[in-house]
Amino acid sequence: MAQVIIFAPAHDIHASAVAWSLRRAGVEALVSSSLRQGSASRFAVLAGADGLHGWASDFQPAEVSAVWYRRPSRPGLSDQAELDRWFSAQQWALFQKNFLAVAHSTVPALWVNEPAASVAAESKLLQLRVAAEVGLDFPEALVTNDAGQVDQLIRRWGRVVFKTFQGHAWEDRATQRYYNTDVSVLDAASELPEAAIAFCPGIFQRYIEKQCDLRVTVIGERFFCARIERKSGGAYLDWRPAILDEDMDVQPFQLPPAVEARLRELMRRLGIVFGCIDLVMDGAGRLFFLEVNQQGQFLFIEKMLPALPLLQAASAMLAGGRTDYALDGRFTAGFEAYLDSADYQQALAAPIDEAPPTTIEPAVTD
Ligand SMILES: Nc1ncnc2c1ncn2[C@@H]1O[C@H](COP(=O)(O)OP(=O)(O)O)[C@@H](O)[C@H]1O
Ligand SMILES: [Mg+2]
Repeated sequence: MAQVIIFAPAHDIHASAVAWSLRRAGVEALVSSSLRQGSASRFAVLAGADGLHGWASDFQPAEVSAVWYRRPSRPGLSDQAELDRWFSAQQWALFQKNFLAVAHSTVPALWVNEPAASVAAESKLLQLRVAAEVGLDFPEALVTNDAGQVDQLIRRWGRVVFKTFQGHAWEDRATQRYYNTDVSVLDAASELPEAAIAFCPGIFQRYIEKQCDLRVTVIGERFFCARIERKSGGAYLDWRPAILDEDMDVQPFQLPPAVEARLRELMRRLGIVFGCIDLVMDGAGRLFFLEVNQQGQFLFIEKMLPALPLLQAASAMLAGGRTDYALDGRFTAGFEAYLDSADYQQALAAPIDEAPPTTIEPAVTD
């Protein structure tokens, strides 16, 4: 019987939903934040003249159809004595790193995504370099902590978007107000304090006057594209905080074949089989690539647009262990049905552990 391994914490809704969907269809799904599911987990990798052979007590490598490398973290060791943990944590972290560096040899399954490729694909600069190589249009971007460079960019493009590598939220203790980093637009009137910009690098990019955003969820060979804009007309500067807005409109969209072909080539060169691609469309209908999130969120799209069977597609790809899976009705329940399940309630109640994310060296992709 096929087994699917999902590396994610118990509170990850996407992991919980996919595991639920797989189990309903009789596919075994193992969800664990790391290789070490618990004290009972045992592993071995035999390195011999004929290569590597993996063995694990929690799963059978030869039976695994796919591994969803969604939100991996270092092995948890809360069952071990605190004084011992410093050393064993390193041993476990490095064991896992070793194991993942040869992912296909130890677990010969479809990896979604392959660990080394997934780390490399997190680089926005690598993404834009590959986008240029495959002929995708994208707004010129500058990654810098130098105010003079930003100033030049504003002079050249008039308006420039500032965005962060990662979102951040904080509370002002004095006023108890909450703040979070936002996408913002800079122009000739913007202050560019040299010391503040030098303090922390960011991403500055030519501003595109948008007609709408496109979110393309790539699940193996299938592309599911949604067009996002306001019902009242026009695009959001940043649509993410607007997800619960009544005014948000999400519709299916057919990508031009030439753009889709380039996006396929981008995914192929990045070595990833799953990703959520952000594109924007300008007033003239021209599409610009912004980024690909190799483990982005996608079920909210299905919630707003049930015509895109994303949960079924992810389940079918993982169960079949191939990117050219069929959508043949084996997985019938969608995300809406999951939201009515006990599994959803369990995921909501699961504690949020603070384990640091797994770090492995980026692959050399040149
Ligand atoms: N160059 C740009 N021009 C106009 N809007 C942009 C630009 N870059 C990002 N945005 C908007 O900001 C939001 C987040 O952009 P994205 O590039 O996907 O960054 P993130 O990594 O924060 O998700 C999207 O709504 C997108 O339309
Ligand atoms: Mg994005």
